Amino acid sequence: MILKTTSLLRRLLFAAGVIAMVYPFAAQPIGAPGQPQSPAATARPEPVVDNGEFMDLFLKSTYTELQQAMAAPPADRKAWAAIYQKAIRLAEMQNLLFFRDRDEVKDPRWAEHTAAGRQAAADVANAALFGLRNVAKADFATVRQKHLVLVDACNACHKTFARDAPTIKP
Ligand code: HEC
Repeated sequence: MILKTTSLLRRLLFAAGVIAMVYPFAAQPIGAPGQPQSPAATARPEPVVDNGEFMDLFLKSTYTELQQAMAAPPADRKAWAAIYQKAIRLAEMQNLLFFRDRDEVKDPRWAEHTAAGRQAAADVANAALFGLRNVAKADFATVRQKHLVLVDACNACHKTFARDAPTIKP
């Protein structure tokens, strides 16, 4: 219990630190100085955190939750729903990879790896959705196989762009 509290506290402090660091930048309007532009003309997706932090705080934690949900064959609809939710969250989250503060984003292979990872996570979600709707016919082996494809997708991008990035395990 003490351990848990400490780790929660650390996370809160870390989050407070991140907000304190990011807020001054986030509060800056984007666009050329001195040129009044309508918000619609300047508003667009912009990265808030750098790519390493994005991986750590978004993809890794979301992926770990999926991994935990898949640790054992789902016993009931609730467990199938948990896999679906975690996989679909990971799929949508990978859209954020299309705009990161790395030069490699302009490399067409970056978008290809991103789309492949997004699709792989969506495939896991769809397979879990089938299990959720047909618990009697549910096939965990198929979901696991799709999960392996997802892991390969993470690692394929790491192999192309970040050889020192960790190898993601199923
Ligand atoms: C489109 C490319 C791409 C995809 C897809 C991708 N990554 Fe990464 N990842 C990177 C890059 C590049 C780095 C190196 C970190 C950096 O930018 O400095 C990285 C680093 C990491 C790190 C180390 C972060 C740190 O602390 O420095 C983790 C963890 C990680 N990725 C998890 C994942 C997981 C899990 C997936 C799949 C769900 C994934 N990544 C998919 C490009 C990708």
